[in-house]
Order: sequence, then structure tokens, then C-alpha cells
Amino acid sequence: MSESLVDQSRALAAEASDAVGKADSLAAIESLRVLYLGKKGRLAEMFRRLAELTGSEKSLAGSAVNTAKREIEEAIRSREEVLEAQARDARLSSETVDVSLPGRQPLRGRLHPITQVMDEIVGVFSALGFAVAEGPEVETDRYNFEALNFPLDHPARDMQDTFFLPGGLLLRTHTSPVQVRVMERLKPPIRIVAPGKVYRRDADVTHAPMFHQVEGFLVDREVSFADLKGVLSLFARTVFSPDVRVRFRPSFFPFVEPGAEMDIGCVLCGGKGCRVCGGSGWLEILGAGLIHPNVFRAVGYDPEETSGFAFGMGVERIAMLRYGIDDIRLFAENDLRFLHQF
Ligand code: PHE
Repeated sequence: MSESLVDQSRALAAEASDAVGKADSLAAIESLRVLYLGKKGRLAEMFRRLAELTGSEKSLAGSAVNTAKREIEEAIRSREEVLEAQARDARLSSETVDVSLPGRQPLRGRLHPITQVMDEIVGVFSALGFAVAEGPEVETDRYNFEALNFPLDHPARDMQDTFFLPGGLLLRTHTSPVQVRVMERLKPPIRIVAPGKVYRRDADVTHAPMFHQVEGFLVDREVSFADLKGVLSLFARTVFSPDVRVRFRPSFFPFVEPGAEMDIGCVLCGGKGCRVCGGSGWLEILGAGLIHPNVFRAVGYDPEETSGFAFGMGVERIAMLRYGIDDIRLFAENDLRFLHQF
């Protein structure tokens, strides 16, 4: 009986050490601890049988069982140490910080392409001595139409084009009212560029209900159409390309006489004719003309002494032609994939 308890405890220690050595997790170790060392475990069972023995038999078996207990405890302890070390190593290597990785770049903002093009246009005229002026986007009929020589029944006043506001106000349909506001305040000579937002009831791929214009005008004595052509040709060469071709076509605006539109040679096909220029080889980029005597009268200037030119252009249109953008709505969508290209 005692013989077998000695043998059995040795066998148990060997079996337990073997099992513990193969355990691959702390949870597995814990269940082995319960199995061998627990209150109802295999060793407890041996201790109970030990109690039935007496004398030298008991002391022999007792030391064997106690040795087995120590061996099992030791096996568990050392296996635990190994597994804990492995877990720690795994955790440390998964948490490793690669100090050579580049830092996270803060997202840097930039000017909207329309702002960039508008600044560039204004810059061309600033370099020629034009000062910058601005006017309100909510206007009266007098500044937007009447003082600019629009007859009362002019189609541009129609509900189709103009956003009317309560109280006889409206959203300006062009930047030309700034001409009137500036001339009312100043005496010639005047050189002004006026960038800003304008509004029209219009929406498709080339028209937006809100868009930007840059207005420009020069008022002095004996200003001629040649002055206008010179300034605008320089503008086109600066903003598009030094060898761009320009042409002026007669056109009508109530506040200029004569009135014209300026075309540039198509930036896409170079004048051969393509989809963008509608096969003509030319692209219209602005309206212009010599300021109408009635506009001078409206601001209290003497049209016999005073002369001047004015022009106005759509910034979105210039930007679309410059960058080959075919949908004006892209400017208002705030899609960073679009905006980041500028
Ligand atoms: N205001 C005109 C428009 O909106 C452009 C223009 C400005 C034409 C100045 C001639 C002179 O279309």
C-alpha cells in the first residue's frame, strides 16, 4: 500500500510536470492547478490515503507525496513564469513604436481655386495702378439697373434673372453697380477693380445661381477704346499665356457705348475648333466697353468732359477655361479631392 503510494506520487509528479510543460496558456495552467493541487484534486486524494497509513509506512509515503506536491508546484510556477514572459514579449512587440515613422501631417488648408483666380485677376490690374473697391451684394434697383442705363422694361430686370428681395431690394446680378457707387463718391481720374459675388436665377453645368465677377473701370479725360484694348490684352496675356490671341466683337450692354465682348483663342484646341469653343476656335471671356454718357449723368459727371472704359468678367468661367473644368458646380461642392488639385 505504502509502496504504491510512493510510486503513485512519483508517477503523478511526472505526469503533472509533463502536462504542465505542454500547457500553452495561463488558463490551461490554472485548470491543471485545480486538477492536481485543488481541494478535490489528485494530490488531495493522496493525502487522504496517507491519513489511513501509520508508522514508517506513513512517513515514507508522506515524504514522497510532499515531494510530489513540491515538484508539481514548482513545475507550475516555472511554466507560469515562461508563459507570462511570452505574453509580456508579445505585448511589447505588438506595442512597439517605430520612432522612424514620419509624423502625422496636419491637414493644411489652402485658398479656394476661385479665390486664387480672383486674386490673380485683381493682381494684374493692381500692378497697373487700379485700386480695389467692393460693394454690397444686396442692392437697390437704382444701383443694379437704373443708374446703369437699363430701361425699365429691360429683360435683365425680369424675374427670370434677378433674385428680388422684400422692400424693393435685390441680389446684385453683376458687379457693375460698384461703378456707380465709386463714381458717386470720387472725382476722375479713377482706376478701380471690384471683385465680388453676384447672383442670377440660373443653374446648369456652366451657370450657378451665385458666382463671382471682377469688374474694372477707368475714368479720366480722352479715354479711348484703344486704352481698353491695351489693358485687356495685357490681362489676357498675363492670365492665359503670353502669346494668346484676342479679338473684340461688338456687343450690347446698356451701360457702355460702344460695347464689346473679348474672345481669346481657344485654350484647348489653339483655334482649330473643338467641343469647348463650339468649333469656332474662340472663347468669350468678358464684356467691356466705353462707359455710356447716361451713366456719367447718373453720377453727376459731365459726359462732355469725362470718358472711361469698363469691363466685367466671370471668375468661374476664367477658372474653368484655365484648368479645363467642365462643371461649375464642382466649385461649390467642397470635395477635397477636387480642391486639392489647385
Ligand atoms: N456687367 C456685365 C455682365 O454682368 C459685364 C460688363 C461689365 C460689360 C462692364 C461691360 C462693361 O455681364
